[in-house]
Amino acid sequence: MYNKDWAKVDTKSLPVIKTEIPGPRSREMHARASKYMKGYSSQVRLFPVVFETGKGCTLTDVDGNVYIDFSSGIYVTGLGHCHPKISEAVATYAHKLMNCHDFTTEIKMKLLEKLASITMGDLNGIQLYDSGTTAVEAGLRCARAATGKFEFISFWRDFHGKTMGAVSCAIVDKSQGMRAPGFFLAPRPNCYRCPFKMKHPECDCYCAEFLENIMKNETTGQVAAIVLEPIQGWGGSIVPPDDFMPKLRQLCDKYGILLFADEVLTCMGRTGKMFCMEHWNITPDITTLGKGFGNGFPVTAMCVSDKYKENIEKISASSSYGGNPMACAAALASIEVIEEENLCERSAHLGEVFLKRMNKMKDEHPIVGDVRGKGCLLAIELVKDKNTKEPFDEAGKLVYQRAFSKGLAWVPAGHILRLSPPLIMEDDLALKGLDIIDEAIGEVEKELGY
Ligand SMILES: Cc1ncc(COP(=O)(O)O)c(C=O)c1O
Repeated sequence: MYNKDWAKVDTKSLPVIKTEIPGPRSREMHARASKYMKGYSSQVRLFPVVFETGKGCTLTDVDGNVYIDFSSGIYVTGLGHCHPKISEAVATYAHKLMNCHDFTTEIKMKLLEKLASITMGDLNGIQLYDSGTTAVEAGLRCARAATGKFEFISFWRDFHGKTMGAVSCAIVDKSQGMRAPGFFLAPRPNCYRCPFKMKHPECDCYCAEFLENIMKNETTGQVAAIVLEPIQGWGGSIVPPDDFMPKLRQLCDKYGILLFADEVLTCMGRTGKMFCMEHWNITPDITTLGKGFGNGFPVTAMCVSDKYKENIEKISASSSYGGNPMACAAALASIEVIEEENLCERSAHLGEVFLKRMNKMKDEHPIVGDVRGKGCLLAIELVKDKNTKEPFDEAGKLVYQRAFSKGLAWVPAGHILRLSPPLIMEDDLALKGLDIIDEAIGEVEKELGY
């Protein structure tokens, strides 16, 4: 079903490396662009290749080198690059009607009906945006409007975007100064590196219990919402234990706090379910969607439960680009493709294929401390020593660069190697990409004296 001809590749011949990479044209173009463009991600800084085309699960650079894609952009193109149904949907509206502010269009009506029919529970109050961070900001404003309270609790190392409210929900580095008043952070479960040095399940998920301490001792008791990523993405594909989310829901209900699940990264099948919260069958009061929602077209959403949805009227919710016809066409086509091609099941299956191979790497490599993930949201954590678990940033950088130069386009984060392949990837291509990582880890171990 998922294996459409448009994305078919000859796995045996991949990747194709024709030049030293980044190749001469890449280097020349990047040098010209970077005279002006500042603030590149570490992904680009460590490997400044210039891409020209993408098709399915491969990317081709301007020197003709073809890479296996383990990045999906940045957790975005889950259905592969340039899926014909999505490209055609966008092209249709690029020729028909590009923007008419937040007036209803037929395509928007269809998207809203479809989205409301697939979201969990009664998350039927919807507003559309053009980036994850603006959807998160709207969610924060809506939580304040709905509760009349103004404080927020979010979690260590979660990421929610780069506007002021979203930034304030995360660890703020010195260069950015302080987070906005009223935002508090709590430890969240990371069973490989438990913040309380306990063991699950004996800990009885103390992270959830500890939140009451934060509420009592740090906030003024005016918490509007607890905001979290259901699975921590940027932080390193950290999956909470199964008892965490139900406990969080209970706590929110006990104190009249809204549960705000930021699914910008985890939605649309990325973790093997349409929405990540389905893994625990816990419906949030507010959720935000992005990245895979338009498979590369900038379209995001804030969804609010029936009980609170009228509050969206109070927050001046519309925006210049949110819900433009091309965006709605991209999102609707993406949802249809996920359903038609059974891509949630596909994602769950791929997760098993990846984890089996990654666990083998963990057994065989002294610097692989942990492997984890769900569906196509995965990570390999590198450590200097499996007992001390000291993070191995230098190895992370080297493995990333080494694998990239062998033809694997992917996403680094210090000592955590993050893997976010498209949901449509064939098993044999996935295994080929994993072979490249395995080889790169082995080479770096040798180089670093392991
Ligand atoms: C969980 C989460 N929320 C929000 C955002 C912000 O999305 P955007 O970059 O589209 O503003 C991101 C981006 O990585 C994210 O991972």
